[in-house]
Amino acid sequence: MLGGRPGWGGGRAGAGRAAGLATGWPPAVQGRARASCETICGVTTQTEESPFLRACFRQPVPYTPVWFMRQAGRSLPEYRAARGKTSMLAACARPDLITEFTLQPLRRYPVDAAILFSDIVVPLKAAGVGIDIAPGVGPVVEQPLRAEQDLARLRTLQPDDVPFVTEAVTSLVAELGSTPLIGFAGGPFTLASYLVDGGPSKSFDRTKALMYGNPKLWTALLARLADITITFLQVQVAAGASAVQLFDSWAGTISPEDYRQSVLPHSRRIFEALAPSGVPRIHFGVGTSELLGLLGEAGADVVGVDWRIPLDEAARRVEPGKALQGNLDPAILLAPWEVVERRAREVLERGRTAEGHIFNLGHGVLPETDPDVLARLTDLVHTESVRLAEGAR
Ligand code: CP3
Repeated sequence: MLGGRPGWGGGRAGAGRAAGLATGWPPAVQGRARASCETICGVTTQTEESPFLRACFRQPVPYTPVWFMRQAGRSLPEYRAARGKTSMLAACARPDLITEFTLQPLRRYPVDAAILFSDIVVPLKAAGVGIDIAPGVGPVVEQPLRAEQDLARLRTLQPDDVPFVTEAVTSLVAELGSTPLIGFAGGPFTLASYLVDGGPSKSFDRTKALMYGNPKLWTALLARLADITITFLQVQVAAGASAVQLFDSWAGTISPEDYRQSVLPHSRRIFEALAPSGVPRIHFGVGTSELLGLLGEAGADVVGVDWRIPLDEAARRVEPGKALQGNLDPAILLAPWEVVERRAREVLERGRTAEGHIFNLGHGVLPETDPDVLARLTDLVHTESVRLAEGAR
């Protein structure tokens, strides 16, 4: 599939450089870093004042900010119509479609942040991996990576490999005004799981076998993936993304000790590389109740929590100085509104025990979700969080 579609396999020379990566951070990014340390510099702009960014930095907010993982995508009829027959990865390489799909949910819901329409496998494909997203299945790899010689096929990513991301982020930031744009990438365990198992997996047997059985290759693979992720996130931030989220969705399948030893050092390097940009860094995984402290320790400003653990308990498990994001079970949105309302209030109440709280689902919006429920929920989060704060005074 490489090279056959517009956008993939090379791109225009210099587009990434134009984002300033070769010569260090561009003035806009340095300005953002300055503005986020407002006590030192006293510089603020509208985007920095957004409730979402303030909550990420554990600053007081007028109401609890909210956005939804997978707010763009198949739950929206306008998405299905505009996608038509275009394949998922072809869509991810077209700035016009990326921009349109990122904005679609914001036309329906007054969410407090947009998330770039892309996928965690986009940088892998851009780095030359034979990978596709099979409809209804997920990412599928042509030649799974299981031996030393396979690693040679995984080259690093250059900003010029993803000019369509730079172009889309630049146009989105202009359109979004004061609404922050969240950039994202896949975490090292999750990316490795697709490359090694070759596709979606329930038990990640081959991935874990490599992690336990060949630590040398595992370390080299995760180091390469971390390099790719760092470049992918830096491209997004350089083009104007105001925050980043690392989706290590499947890291919850390993024990805390194994996570600490075999994954955390790589995630830490990713977060450290993003630190100079000054943008908040969110770290999320599914089934990570036992890993929450470590997700924070890796260097995130915000820890994403799934629905398996209440937010007050999550707050106890994460070291001080972190905000939390989450954590309504996406399946609750399929229940009657009274249930959604009651459960969302509980999330807000428990979220008040965190130093900062961004309301979200515990995982992505399910395709069968009624968009009107998400619209009502967004309003409920805003109004109910104000009421709860007033009641507490
Ligand atoms: O949140 C957003 O609105 C931004 C868009 C986004 C997509 N993928 C678009 C997408 C984000 C943040 C992702 C991240 C992603 N991709 C993750 C981490 C988040 C998570 O869900 O845990 C993972 C594991 C992937 C890999 C992947 N890509 C899967 C498992 C699937 C679903 C397969 C299926 O069809 O059920 C995809 C495809 C995908 N990524 C779709 C979208 C909108 C659906 C494809 C389509 O519309 O045809």
